[in-house]
Amino acid sequence: MPERRQIIAGNWKMHKTVAEASYYAVELLERVGAVGSPEIVVCAPFTALAALKDELEESVVHLGAQNMSWAAEGAYTGEISARMLKELACTYVILGHSERRELMHETDEEIARKVKAALEAELTPILCVGENLRQREEGRASDVVRGQVEQDLAGLGEEELRRIVIAYEPIWAIGTGKTASSQDAQEMCADIRWTVAQMSGSAASGMSILYGGSVKPENIAELMRKPDIDGALVGGASLDPAGFATLVENA
Ligand code: G3P
Repeated sequence: MPERRQIIAGNWKMHKTVAEASYYAVELLERVGAVGSPEIVVCAPFTALAALKDELEESVVHLGAQNMSWAAEGAYTGEISARMLKELACTYVILGHSERRELMHETDEEIARKVKAALEAELTPILCVGENLRQREEGRASDVVRGQVEQDLAGLGEEELRRIVIAYEPIWAIGTGKTASSQDAQEMCADIRWTVAQMSGSAASGMSILYGGSVKPENIAELMRKPDIDGALVGGASLDPAGFATLVENA
């Protein structure tokens, strides 16, 4: 079985101006210049991507977006297409983040369309799935996450599934400082891998599955020691370049 890629991705969410993003890139590169593994990804707001392309394109740091339209182009006011992201040297795109599912009411059907459009544009989707606190307390976490994986990846063939990264992000751990225990995270990531295996066994075994939700430099190492956790999707702790570099180093 091929070695699974280990990935540490930073999700800036709605933070950093163009000037702040350029400064961040210089500071980060000073600290992670020669890192080969884990793969480092910075997922920035659309407005900062052009500046980050200039700073990062020839570096070890990959660039990603936090969303995209499922449409290739057309009368979709305010939307950004995969083709526009490719022009800005993006290789990854976060899709289905819980904040978009909850605040922008993104449906699994829309997310599935975006996954397909990203694959068609040869972007790597980082598909976010995860349960809320009530669903976990009611013992429905696995059912909810399995449903998201099945619906968001519906209709994909083995080759397409091989190109997907999934991030398990329990909603109750996002931005709260309440990280899931490494055992809980492992169990859910293993469950996600099992769910993918029902679609394609070989794609599942090679898939990078990340954990997200209050990941810090202090807890990343324990998470990375779990057999089904191949990296992290980091929010708050990715906003400071020195802290993010330390988190990468500890991974
Ligand atoms: O996409 C990653 C994000 O949702 C996690 O946020 O601040 O808990 O690391 P945070």
